[in-house]
Amino acid sequence: MLDLRLSLVLIALLGPSQGLPSCSSSTIASAPLPSATSTADTNTAAKAAGKLYFGTATNAGQFVNDTAYAETLSDNKLFGAITPANALKWESTEPSRNNFTFTEADQIASLAKGNGQLLRGHNCVWHEQLASWVSSGNFDNATLTSILQNHCSTVVGRYKGEMNMTFKHHPVDSWDVVNEPFNDDGTQRSFVFTDTIGPSYIDIALESARAADPSTKLYINDFNIEGFNAKSTAMFDLVQDLKARGIPIDGIGVQAHLIVGQIPGDIQENLERFASLGVEVAITELDIRMTLPVTAELLEQQKADYQSVVSACDAVEACIGVTIWDFDDKYSWVPGTFPGEGAALPWDENLVRKPAYDGIIAGFSY
Ligand code: XIL
Repeated sequence: MLDLRLSLVLIALLGPSQGLPSCSSSTIASAPLPSATSTADTNTAAKAAGKLYFGTATNAGQFVNDTAYAETLSDNKLFGAITPANALKWESTEPSRNNFTFTEADQIASLAKGNGQLLRGHNCVWHEQLASWVSSGNFDNATLTSILQNHCSTVVGRYKGEMNMTFKHHPVDSWDVVNEPFNDDGTQRSFVFTDTIGPSYIDIALESARAADPSTKLYINDFNIEGFNAKSTAMFDLVQDLKARGIPIDGIGVQAHLIVGQIPGDIQENLERFASLGVEVAITELDIRMTLPVTAELLEQQKADYQSVVSACDAVEACIGVTIWDFDDKYSWVPGTFPGEGAALPWDENLVRKPAYDGIIAGFSY
């Protein structure tokens, strides 16, 4: 009786399979995951399709310390444009009031220049990675307005001459002047600038950027605006209103942080809608994440998903380029932000090209 009770307790605690031979995953030989087969280069393919660039985001710490990564990043047949992932954000460039630091941003700008790659500026004003002195300073409207003007004109003005010399006919391609202004329901996000100045903080940022570098393209950039929804309609309405009022605006940046198997079916139509406003559009931060672990099936779906996004841009004349949000899984922001998800980029953590790479190439028509 006691023995029976003991074994029932043990079964309850340990599960019924105790004592049976175990079959751990390490003992099952798994098929190797598929990799890319295309020998074409991404930026070459983008240009052949009539686009301005295929680009990537990066951080200086990565290319300074990782030679293999740096070599791929510097290959302008693969990447024709570079976006600093963090180096130009407010907390990095103006960590205390009127004290500007450009060490990392300069490293990235000079790498891009040396490689003959365009630079995309990112960003002047955003609710995240904003220096805390700005949000906690209790500044009044007039003071905050001058803080915003000073910030945008200084960071945009910094790279004006240098990049103009390199790319005479198409200088620093563009700046995400305003980043993520909307909530998903299409209302404007509450943060220190909307709360103190109101929605006209957007006008102020754009006008300061235009004055600082009249030849760079000024963008507003956001996520969850790939297909038709309340947020992308709010973006459409905002840009229409800016244009009607003569506020400088040249482009809409569609971030495209997407999920494998969940790509909106109407990206091309939505890009056309944006373009109908007379602005250019770009895919600015593409990555397509999956729930880990990686499987061959997920990689195949990811390939199809990359192809859908790239081909949507390909099909829209005003869509000038596609930027991925870093290129290898080793440096992706996804695992740190979305627990349990990852493998979002076309190169794996060992710099091996995944099927997604083939999807990108297939997405460009040339
Ligand atoms: C991310 C960077 O990649 C991370 O390194 C950082 O920790 C957080 O920000 N939308 C944007 C980008 O506009 O600036 C974000 O970049 C990703 C989401």
